[in-house]
Amino acid sequence: MASLSSLSTVPITTTSLSGRTRSPLFSKTSSHRFKVSCNASSADENPNLILPNTSLNMQNVDRRNLLLGLGGLYGAANLTNIGSASAYPITAPDDISDCVDANSGINDPDRAFRGLKCCPPASATGPIDYVLPEFSQLRIRPAAQRLTPEYVEKYKAAIAIMRALPEDNPHSWKQQGKIHCAYCNGAYNQEMNGHPELQLQIHNGSLFYPFHRWYLYFYERILGKLIDDPTFALPYWNWDNPTGMMLPSVFEDPGPNGNPRTNPVFDPFRDVKHLPPTIIDLQFRGQESGLNCVDQISANLSTMYGQMVTSATSTDAFFGTNPDPVNGTPGTIESGAHTSVHIWTGSSRMPNHEDMGNFYSAGYDPVFYSHHANVDRMWKIWKDLKPNSNQDPTDDDWLNASYVFYDENKQLVRVYNKDCVDHNKLGYDYEPSRIPWIQSRPIPRVKASNIVAQSLGVVKKVEEIEFPVKLDQIVKVLVKRPATKRDENAKKIANEMLFLNGIKFNGEEFFKFDVLVDDVDDGIETTAASSEFAGTFAQVPHNHEHEMFMTSGAAFGITELLEDIEAEEDEYVLVTLVPRAGTEDATISEIKIQLVPIA
Ligand code: C2O
Repeated sequence: MASLSSLSTVPITTTSLSGRTRSPLFSKTSSHRFKVSCNASSADENPNLILPNTSLNMQNVDRRNLLLGLGGLYGAANLTNIGSASAYPITAPDDISDCVDANSGINDPDRAFRGLKCCPPASATGPIDYVLPEFSQLRIRPAAQRLTPEYVEKYKAAIAIMRALPEDNPHSWKQQGKIHCAYCNGAYNQEMNGHPELQLQIHNGSLFYPFHRWYLYFYERILGKLIDDPTFALPYWNWDNPTGMMLPSVFEDPGPNGNPRTNPVFDPFRDVKHLPPTIIDLQFRGQESGLNCVDQISANLSTMYGQMVTSATSTDAFFGTNPDPVNGTPGTIESGAHTSVHIWTGSSRMPNHEDMGNFYSAGYDPVFYSHHANVDRMWKIWKDLKPNSNQDPTDDDWLNASYVFYDENKQLVRVYNKDCVDHNKLGYDYEPSRIPWIQSRPIPRVKASNIVAQSLGVVKKVEEIEFPVKLDQIVKVLVKRPATKRDENAKKIANEMLFLNGIKFNGEEFFKFDVLVDDVDDGIETTAASSEFAGTFAQVPHNHEHEMFMTSGAAFGITELLEDIEAEEDEYVLVTLVPRAGTEDATISEIKIQLVPIA
């Protein structure tokens, strides 16, 4: 445990439910050179307004439940998780020398210039079970667009020291980057559970949030140790707020001699089309959206609303499910905004879109850790939005899944999902930032369109289609609903969800398709700003098996969507799948709507 004796004297209060903790350390807003300039972003600088509850459905939240929500794991322990079952917890091997070279998710291994030898250096001891230190102060992660000059200096100094460490040091920049490659590109097997055929993969399912939380935790603690400042906290890339919707300028600052290459947090393998002040596209398809600044920001905000609220109506929908070779699903943010930020940031000129655009190389770009800090922040925000229903997974396999890391003292340790569900116990929190997307509930293009009635007899029903269906062109199909005219009570008991199962695609390519519900084909593109946009499924190149194709499911809540477009009385829903990238050889084997009980 690092000594806390050098803690600064700045008092940091324990966070309240909505994270209103605020450290005076980060109250200045001085170092960002670029400001989002279009009107939609004005008035977004007030970080004190966190959860305007105007458009959120929080009527069932009573005080007791709010407190229950705060309890994280403990508060949620007796609720049942729906729909995810695997027979064993995912566990990184005890003997890290069992690690093999990464072998999958790469187009052409010879061109994987970052290297596929991703195994950690050997350890004489361990792994031992990690014991969380008692933290007397929280490390407050600042929003990257609001960093103070003092903070920027400290951050760059820490990364510079990390980069200067010898490559075989477990704290070195190279070794830290390799962690991602090892856990995502097939370096570990599940041998100790009697499944040598299964590779350890922490994406595309419910291990996604906890694995990355632990990864960032140790990365942050190591950086703090390197500069002897245990209060050091990673900056988060606040891409869900208009003021943060561009690559944070700190990552592209010129270094001491005026050249960005001497800036320790610079990475040469980023897309030059996407440097500040280009606004990020949270629905990135591999090509520019063509939207102007105002429209791009509002599309991004609607995307956030859709992935955090409309479709993320259950634990499984938000986290993804436990690993399952056919119907396992990634969570809404993982396969949505998270993937977009990776692909948008990585260099389109590199063979594997290094660094951010491929999992094997993403960990070598310092911005990766800021991207994932915001992903991690979404976990916290999602739970705060509806504490009585938005709960962590509670099945034993998930709770006992574990990973192995080197801690800040170079001790090899094993950590468990169950120990990271309360981020405050890990000693950190986030500097507050407004979440304006709460007010960006998408708007229907057409209400009560009658499109389903017009499609009957014209568009095939699911049962008339021969599966698997190819995704090389737009797919339209009528899907029967389990119930119509669901009243408020019925909606309190169960979520209506659209499931796409057995999605088979080339895991070595960027892959994306959008899902529309009751979309009227009038030549106007339906974007995430419209209620008819049910969700997206997008994957950063990687792979589960020693083969090119991987299979996954996808799930989206549609209760609120059907209300918005006034289609609650319809017996069928018209589902449209719109290919966006890498879909040429992709197929899908099942489309259905089910009611999923609310925990
Ligand atoms: Cu492990 Cu953003 O990926």
